[in-house]
Amino acid sequence: MKLITEGDINSYYLQTVCMLFFPRAKFSNTETINADTPVAIVKVSSSEKTAYAEASLTMGERTVLKYYSEDFTENVPKQNTKSIAASKALFSAASEFCKYNPPWGILTGVRPTKLAFDRINAGMTKEQTVKSLRSDYLLYPKKAILATDIARYESKVIKNYTEKDCSLYISIPFCPTRCAYCSFVSYTTKKLLSLIPDYLTAMKEEIKLLSSLIKERGYNVVTVYIGGGTPTTLDEAQLSDLLSCIDMYFDTELLREYTVEAGRADTITKEKLKICKDHNVTRVSVNPQSLCDQVLQNVGRMHTTKQFYKAYDMAVQSGIPHINTDLIIGLPGDNFSIYSQTIEKIVELSPDNITAHTLAAKKSSVLTTEGGELFTEDYRDLAKCVDYTQIITKNADYIPYYMYRQKNSAGNLENVGFCKKGTECIYNILMMEEVHTIFAVGAGAVTKLTRDGGEKIQRVFNPKYPYEYLAKNREEEFKKLRDTALSFYG
Ligand SMILES: C[S@@+](CC[C@H](N)C(=O)[O-])C[C@H]1O[C@@H](n2cnc3c(N)ncnc32)[C@H](O)[C@@H]1O
Ligand code: SF4
Repeated sequence: MKLITEGDINSYYLQTVCMLFFPRAKFSNTETINADTPVAIVKVSSSEKTAYAEASLTMGERTVLKYYSEDFTENVPKQNTKSIAASKALFSAASEFCKYNPPWGILTGVRPTKLAFDRINAGMTKEQTVKSLRSDYLLYPKKAILATDIARYESKVIKNYTEKDCSLYISIPFCPTRCAYCSFVSYTTKKLLSLIPDYLTAMKEEIKLLSSLIKERGYNVVTVYIGGGTPTTLDEAQLSDLLSCIDMYFDTELLREYTVEAGRADTITKEKLKICKDHNVTRVSVNPQSLCDQVLQNVGRMHTTKQFYKAYDMAVQSGIPHINTDLIIGLPGDNFSIYSQTIEKIVELSPDNITAHTLAAKKSSVLTTEGGELFTEDYRDLAKCVDYTQIITKNADYIPYYMYRQKNSAGNLENVGFCKKGTECIYNILMMEEVHTIFAVGAGAVTKLTRDGGEKIQRVFNPKYPYEYLAKNREEEFKKLRDTALSFYG
C-alpha cells in the first residue's frame, strides 16, 4: 500500500488506520503502483481555530475523496486534533471504498476502557460517555456501550483497593508443546523442560527476597496469579513445592483471589488440582480454546475436547471455587457455525468465568512464520462470533467485566472476560487498568509499580527467557528492583 501525506501529521498513526481496512498492508516509499495497489493521500491544513483534512483512496480507476474538519479545543493539543481530523477523513474514505465500517472506528489502542474511564472520571453519565466515544472515535454504538459498561463495572471493583494493596504474578514459561497461534515465551523441548528444577529453585529465592520488600513497604498482597506458559506443566511434586514456598512467605488464607492458570487439559490431573485446593487456590483456568477437535488439531493443540471435559469435570470436583475457560475466535478452520456450538456448550457448562479472545496474528507464532492461512478474510463471520458470544453470555447472566484489544487481531476485534456476578477475576481488572502495583517473579515477568491511582507507573523487566533468568544473580537483580521501588515511592 502507498500512503502519501502532506502537512503536519504523524503518518505512523495513519498507517494503523489503513491497516483497519488492509490488514496485511506493507508501507514503502519505493513500491511501484499497479492497478491493485491501494493509494491513500492525506493532506492536513489548519486555520487558527480549526484543523482541516482531505483524504483520498484510489485503486485502479476508482477513487473516493472525503473531507473532515475538527475545531481546536483548549485541553487537546493542536497536533492531536490534526491527527484526529486526518484519521477521520481517511477512515471515511476507506469505509466507503471498502464498503466496511470497522466496529472500533479509528480506535487502534489496546485499552478502549481507558477512554471510557477518563470520561466517567470527568463526571460523564453512561449516556454521555457512550455518545462521546461514538463521536470522538466513530465506534459502533454496541462497542461504545461495551467499553462504557466494562469501565463502570471495573471502577466499582477498583474502588475496593488502596495504594497499599498489591498483587503477585508468578511466571511459568513452560508448556508440553507449542500451539501454532501462540507467541508467549514458553519452553517446550525436552532439553529446555529439564531446566524446570533449577528454574523453580531460582524463583523460590526471588519470592523470598521479594517478600522482604513487600513486608518492609507494608504492602498487603490481595491477589496471586500463577500464569504461563502452562503452570500445570510442573509435575505434582514441583507444583506442591512452589505453592508451599508461596505459603511460607505470604498468608494465602487472606488473599482475595489466588489463580493458577492451568490451561491445557493434557497437563491437568486430579492430584494437581488437589494440591491447588489444599494451598487455598480460588480460581483455575481450564482452557478448551475450541470445542471442535478438528480446529484443535489445525492449531497443534495437543488435546481433544474429550480431555477438556474430563479436566473441567475434575476441576469442578476439586472444590476450587471458580473456573475460567479461555476461547479463541477465528482459529483456522473455525467459523460461525462451529464456533456457535463451542460457546453454546461452554455456557451450558456454566463456568464462573469465560474469556473470549479474538485470534491475533503474532509475529513469532508458527501460524505466522510458516505462512499458514491465518484467518479468514471474512471479518463479518468473526464479528458474528464475537457478537453471538456477547449475546449468549448476557442471556445466561454473565457480565462483561474486562476487555483488551491486541495488535493484529482478526477484524480488529476485542478480547472480553465475562463473569457471573461477583466472580470477576480481580487480578485481570487491576492488571489491565494499570492502577495497582504488581510484583512479578520469574522469566519474562514484568513488575509494575504504580502511584497516584495509576497516574505514575514504572515497569521493571525480568530477563525474558528462562536461560537468561537462570544466568543472573538473584540478589543483584533484587537489589535493582528494590532500589527502583524505593526511589519510585520516595
Ligand atoms: C497465557 S495464554 C495460555 C494459557 C494456557 N497455556 C493455555 O494454553 O490454555 C492465555 C490465553 O491467551 C490466548 N491466546 C494465546 N495466543 C493467542 C493469540 N495469538 N490470539 C488470541 N488469543 C491468544 C489463549 O486463549 C490462551 O488461553
Ligand atoms: S497457548 Fe498455552 S499451551 Fe499453547 S503454547 Fe501458548 S502458552 Fe503454551
